[in-house]
Amino acid sequence: MIKIAVMGYGTIGSGVVKVIETNQESICKKIGEGIEVKYILDVRDFEGDPIQKKVVHDYQVIAQDPEIAIVVETMGGVEPAYTFVKAMLLAGKSVTTSNKALVAVHGSDLVATAKDKNVNFMFEASVGGGIPIIRALNSCLTADQIEEISGIMNGTTNYMLTKMTQDGSGFEEVLKEAQEKGYAEKDPTADIEGYDACRKIAILTSLIAAQQVDFEDVHTEGITRISATDILYAKKMGRMIKLLATSRQVGDTYTVIVAPFLLPKEHPLYNVNGVFNAIFVRGNMLGDAMFYGSGAGSLPTASAVVADVVELAKHIGRHIELAWSPQKLHIADYRQQAGRFFVRTSAQRAEVENIFGEVEYVDVTEVAGEIGFITSEMKESDYEHKAEQLGNILQMIRFHSE
Ligand code: HSE
Repeated sequence: MIKIAVMGYGTIGSGVVKVIETNQESICKKIGEGIEVKYILDVRDFEGDPIQKKVVHDYQVIAQDPEIAIVVETMGGVEPAYTFVKAMLLAGKSVTTSNKALVAVHGSDLVATAKDKNVNFMFEASVGGGIPIIRALNSCLTADQIEEISGIMNGTTNYMLTKMTQDGSGFEEVLKEAQEKGYAEKDPTADIEGYDACRKIAILTSLIAAQQVDFEDVHTEGITRISATDILYAKKMGRMIKLLATSRQVGDTYTVIVAPFLLPKEHPLYNVNGVFNAIFVRGNMLGDAMFYGSGAGSLPTASAVVADVVELAKHIGRHIELAWSPQKLHIADYRQQAGRFFVRTSAQRAEVENIFGEVEYVDVTEVAGEIGFITSEMKESDYEHKAEQLGNILQMIRFHSE
């Protein structure tokens, strides 16, 4: 019998217990033996709940119990999750986590600790919820040099942009609705400012580069500036505004950015709507692949956590090599990347042409007192220089070229 502990009985932790209960029989067949949740670590007591007798408040109870082989961390946040997870690994237990904040900051260190102790540290659910992207990168796509990973990695903002596109409503109105429906958190900052997607692309880039990518280095813009007027322009251009987290190989490093992009109909991420996530991967041998599904939510995320538990159970006593050096990867300056830019300005056409040269105008009849145009291809640094010269910029959204 494999005995496990779950640290944090919130949305995902309770989902983990439910997944194990619901699919107990098939999960046991896959592991080759039984599985039991022995402890649940939480600050609460859960009086009257069937799990009450499993609840402990001191993580050392778990760390010091030789019966526990696998620990699930679903607490969220960097501390005390890091202290607890590190203690479990040092005590010779394998760990799986859904916690992107923890993995983005301490992933390489925890992988190294797991190696030292001949156990494993897995984190499938930390990116893309139920979408199997981490194992795909670490196992299925290891024959490739990954040239690009671009994805819609945040369900909240994708839901909001989809609603704004479908209903023509404004940012604040859609945010309120998303909160009422439980899609957006009471404090939605991490989602709408792009911080959540930033940590996810930093983790994925670390894995494809096999080096540490610090999320603080990733240029990150959220969707708070996107308005109903921008959506009108996007529709006129036959495009969709999507918050992309993208990483592209440049020489021996990557350009990494999180920002809203205007995607054409032909782009594989154009039709990814609502709370769904999708991650597009381009390998130098594979070509293109897409991973699509539920990127958040209790059971989809718990499904990925429990899949890690199964994998960990199958590898007790054997460390699975994972290349993630703590050596920092210096990511490329995103300002050196070339692209086209959609711009809204209150300046006159003559001024625009004087500074930007030939541009493509976008006329939306419902919008007065401003003009919209798409620049020719130029480096982001050149765009910034020209935008400063023009002044009166109301909006800029990157125009995806493919
Ligand atoms: N807040 C995240 C989202 C949850 O909306 O996608 C999954 O990380």
